[in-house]
Amino acid sequence: MQNVKLIGPFTQLLPLDNLPTKGAISDHELEIISDAGILVEAGKIKKVDSFHTLRKENPDCKIEYITTTTVCLPGFIDAHTHICFAGTRAQDYALRNSGKTYLEIAKAGGGIWDTVTQTRKADSATLVNGILERTTTLLENGVTTIEVKSGYGLSVPQELKMLRAIKEANEKTAATLISTCLAAHMLPKDYPGTKAAYLHEIANSLFPMLQQENLTHRIDAFIETSAFSKEDIIPYFKHAKKLGFDITVHADQFSTSGSEIAVKFGALSADHLEASTTTEIQLLAQSKVIATALPGASIGLGCNFTPARQLLDAGVSLAIASDWNPGSAPMGDLLTQAAILGTFEKLTAAEIFAGITSRAANALNLDDRGILKPEYTADFVVFPTADYKEILYRQGRLKPSQVWKNGKTTFNNSMK
Ligand code: NIG
Ligand code: FE
Repeated sequence: MQNVKLIGPFTQLLPLDNLPTKGAISDHELEIISDAGILVEAGKIKKVDSFHTLRKENPDCKIEYITTTTVCLPGFIDAHTHICFAGTRAQDYALRNSGKTYLEIAKAGGGIWDTVTQTRKADSATLVNGILERTTTLLENGVTTIEVKSGYGLSVPQELKMLRAIKEANEKTAATLISTCLAAHMLPKDYPGTKAAYLHEIANSLFPMLQQENLTHRIDAFIETSAFSKEDIIPYFKHAKKLGFDITVHADQFSTSGSEIAVKFGALSADHLEASTTTEIQLLAQSKVIATALPGASIGLGCNFTPARQLLDAGVSLAIASDWNPGSAPMGDLLTQAAILGTFEKLTAAEIFAGITSRAANALNLDDRGILKPEYTADFVVFPTADYKEILYRQGRLKPSQVWKNGKTTFNNSMK
């Protein structure tokens, strides 16, 4: 019994278990356990039940008492970020607010290319420290699993530098980092050949190294007028699939066609979708592709939100992620953004919480987290309130008081 630990009592605990994996979810479907406990062994959940029952069943086990009023949820999962970068794009932000568009700024040499220039100059220690700093902020906000993309290197050695930095940061942080190769973010301005030649080089030279060094098993591409067309990406994704990579797509941000490719290649997720129309929504609804809304990019760019309500009503699974990046989404606050998306798109609490836990886990093909149930990773977050409804109502201002990762406290603000 020595290695078994009972944590609680939590005023309310929402396991987020037994929710539909696709489509709309009503708040009536949320199970709420009052005065709950979590039994943890070796970083995994052994049982979730009333604290009283668990204590009676396990009279000798160690107890970590929670003495304040709390609501406990599964650790949040941010399924789309670009937190490996150097420098700032505050100037882009100011230019956008003076009337220039994201695409105009990109054409004039700002945008993604500006961050590529700054990231290429940074050494790997700087990149690792930057990731760790942002990861600490995310952990304090209850995010225990974070997807991190490359895509600001845009050459074989520079993409390797980024992905190795993500791997090193993963070894140094309590959070789980899931890396993704986004070498297809744009054609680098200094590349002497065509888009096809660039993608061919990445697929032939970089992909095998990603597998040899175990740097990532995920390939992403930005399908957009300013980046790559669907015709450019088809041979690239074919190659990636043949090697066994999982696919994810930056789709329908400003123009459509990305979601079509996501469906065609059986991608795990199609992310963005701000420009998706009924046609794309129907296409996604007939597939297993998860739609990932990125409200942080809509807030950062001052443009419309992903049609989350329509996607859910059509039967699509919706994840919500921060897209934290220095350009379009500098805020990096998943809960705040998910709460705001909820007010504009009329999402239930169940849909929002599932979007940043279990459905986000599905978007990353992780079947061991995002729900509080036996055998799942003991990642959970508590908020200092007696009612779960307060969490979204406070729109991100109510911060976690404690966060556990693999059964261990990784953040504790409850004493203050
Ligand atoms: O997801 N849309 C393309 N890529 C990022 C933005 C990256 C950047 O602007 O640096 C996104 O929004
Ligand atoms: Fe992105």
